[in-house]
This record gives sequence, C-alpha cells and structure tokens, in this order.
Amino acid sequence: MKRSYLTTLECSRCGEQADPAQLNSVCPACGKVLFARYDLEAASKAMTKESLLGREKSMWRYREVMPVLDDANIVSLGEGMTPLLHTERLGKTLGLNGLFIKDEGFNPTGSFKARGMSAAVSRAKELGVTSIAIPSAGNAAAAIAAYCARAGINATVFMPVDAPHIAKGESKLAGARVYLVNGLIGDAGRIVKENREQNGWWDISTLKEPYRAEGKKTMGYELAEQFNWSLPDVIVYPTGGGTGIVGMWKAFEEMETLGWIDSERPRMVAVQTEGCAPIVRAFERGDEFAEPIKDAHTIASGLRVPGAIGDYLILDALRSSGGTAVRVADSDLAAAMHEIGRREGISSCLEGAATFVGLRVLVERGQVGADETIVLLNTGSALTTPHVLEADFPVWEE
Ligand SMILES: Cc1ncc(COP(=O)(O)O)c(C=O)c1O
Repeated sequence: MKRSYLTTLECSRCGEQADPAQLNSVCPACGKVLFARYDLEAASKAMTKESLLGREKSMWRYREVMPVLDDANIVSLGEGMTPLLHTERLGKTLGLNGLFIKDEGFNPTGSFKARGMSAAVSRAKELGVTSIAIPSAGNAAAAIAAYCARAGINATVFMPVDAPHIAKGESKLAGARVYLVNGLIGDAGRIVKENREQNGWWDISTLKEPYRAEGKKTMGYELAEQFNWSLPDVIVYPTGGGTGIVGMWKAFEEMETLGWIDSERPRMVAVQTEGCAPIVRAFERGDEFAEPIKDAHTIASGLRVPGAIGDYLILDALRSSGGTAVRVADSDLAAAMHEIGRREGISSCLEGAATFVGLRVLVERGQVGADETIVLLNTGSALTTPHVLEADFPVWEE
C-alpha cells in the first residue's frame, strides 16, 4: 500500500522542479527554498479526516503528506500531537476569552525542533545519508543529536559559544560532535557550508533542505484537527528562521486542497525581539526580503537569526493572511514566562513567552478581538533554558 504521496520537489520562488530521489539542498536554479509536493488528490482518498481517528498520536499520523516512502525509515521519538490548551486564566489578564497555547515543550528534547528533525533524519535515512551537520542556536542541535542517534547517523553541530549550556550537554549526551563558534548562527552556518563537502555532511540548515519544514508543517495540521477542522483567528509565532510559520502556511494550503478546510486563514503574527527583528523591519518597510541585522543580540537564542533564507515566505504569509509582525523587549520575557507559569502551570521557554508579550502589544493596538480564537506557539519548555529559571523572576505588572 502506498504510504507517502510525495511526487516532486518544487522551488517556492521560481517553480523549478528537483528530483526528490536525490539529496537536495536549495533550488538549483535560483538558490531559494525547495518545497516537497504531493499528489494531494490521491492522498485525499487514502487519508480522510475520519481515517485519522484511529491513528498514532504523533505527527506521523499525517503519513500520506509526509516525505518518507517506506515506514521502515521513519525515525521517531514520539514527536507531535502536543497539547492545545485553553488558557482562560491567562487570557483574562488581557481581556481575551479565546486564548490557547499549543505547548511544544512536550516534544522529545523539549522543543518543536523535534518535528523538523524527525522528518529530515527519516528522509536522510531513506536516502542513505551517513553524516549530518547543522548550525544551531541550541534546541535544533539537541534535537538533531537525538534523532541521528536513533537513526545511526553521525551528527555534527555548530553552536554559538553562548548558546544555552543545556543544549550543548544534550547534544553530547546523544553522541553528537559539538563545536562552539565565536559568532552567531550565520557564522556557524558558514562553517558548515565551507566544510560539508570534504566531510561528507548533509547540511540541514534551516530551510536549506526541503524536509524540516515538512515536520514543522504538522503543527498546522494538528491545530486544524484539534480545533475540529476549523482554524483559529490568529496564530502568534516566535520567529527566527521562520520554518514554523512557513510550514504551517504550507499545511493550510495543502489541507484546503485535501478538502479539509476552507479558504479562511488565521492572521499570522511573527514576534521577534528588539535586538534582532529583521522580519519586523522588512514588514514595516513593505520589503519583499529582509535585510540582515548587524550585531544581532537577544536573550531568546532561538530568535537570534539575523538573516533568514525564507524571509520572502514568512513575509508573504504575514501579508496574505492580514497578519502583522511585532517587536518585543528582552527585558519583558522572563516576567512573561512567569506569568504563563503562575496562571496556567505551563512551562514556557523565552521564545514562547515572547508570543505572550507580542500579544499584549496586539491587544494595546486593538488588533485582536476579545472573542477571537488566538493561539500562541510555546515552542519549547522552560527546561531548555534552566539558567533563566535559576535567576530571580521579575513579576508582571498588573
Ligand atoms: C524555542 C525556539 N523557538 C523559536 C525558534 C525559532 O524557530 P524558527 O527558526 O522556526 O523561526 C527557535 C529556533 O531555534 C527555538 O529554539
């Protein structure tokens, strides 16, 4: 029985096709992001909403629209199908009745990076890859290390020297070779690029290969399924390289073609911090691409991405959804973590807490309604940043 309806890879910018049987990176014609494409009409017959009911509670329940042909190649640690929690007490603090948090901290290695890595490593296994390298802000390194360990693939990770200590330890725990870089994630990415050929690494930098986004898109599928096949009015996402926004946006398009949802889309909101907000700046300027930020700095290490290859895709999702982009201050993040924790018992990372600070801005600007359904993506657990928990918590001002 056919399990995946993967047909081709297609450039998200120029439409050039690439052969998915080969190891691919970016579009061979224009260097932009390649997307996996599926025969969705055929997939819609094999995978119906009803057929999902008895399936496994992981992101692999959407098997027909995942890029792995043979089940034997799936490398899973139980990622996905994370809780979608109605956070009434937290919502009330901002006068909102329909506030939800999708808690990605439940994923293996404590962050949503597990989704992308499960998809990419599975496909790597299928294509015979023996060695993978990535630049990472921290969470991606911990995740790739774990999935590579499970697949029997060698992992090499390059992290900024000031990445969270726990991510370095987790990567080593799972047997990855860990290198620290005196610089930012872009510098780490350059080292991977310069050394990948001679070391035989498959470089799976954010959106520089087609499969991590396939894992991230399952957040969009899950939201639709968890809301009983409607979508929320607003989705607030802490944006670094943007794979999550890009992936969810792709999922919505696929689900419409599958006949599962209509053409209504949530307003997509990107949140970044003041010291590194290339997408917010480009959104405000009306630019199609985001000029990289010089001297990027923020305590939310996952958001310290000065330039993203998928900038045009993120900006397109924000604009065509009627959404927006919001800048928040680093100094508000720990207090927001505390607010989320003490109102709801949810363990949020700094990046997840940034979405709540961003939402406060939207409320102040009158850009969300009291009865709208709003989802904050908490992209990881507070346990991914124990140094923040060890410090004193400032308290949110009422
Ligand atoms: C916890 C967390 N949230 C958000 C992000 C940003 O994710 P994306 O690159 O998909 O924008 C990262 C990336 O490192 C992260 O670790």
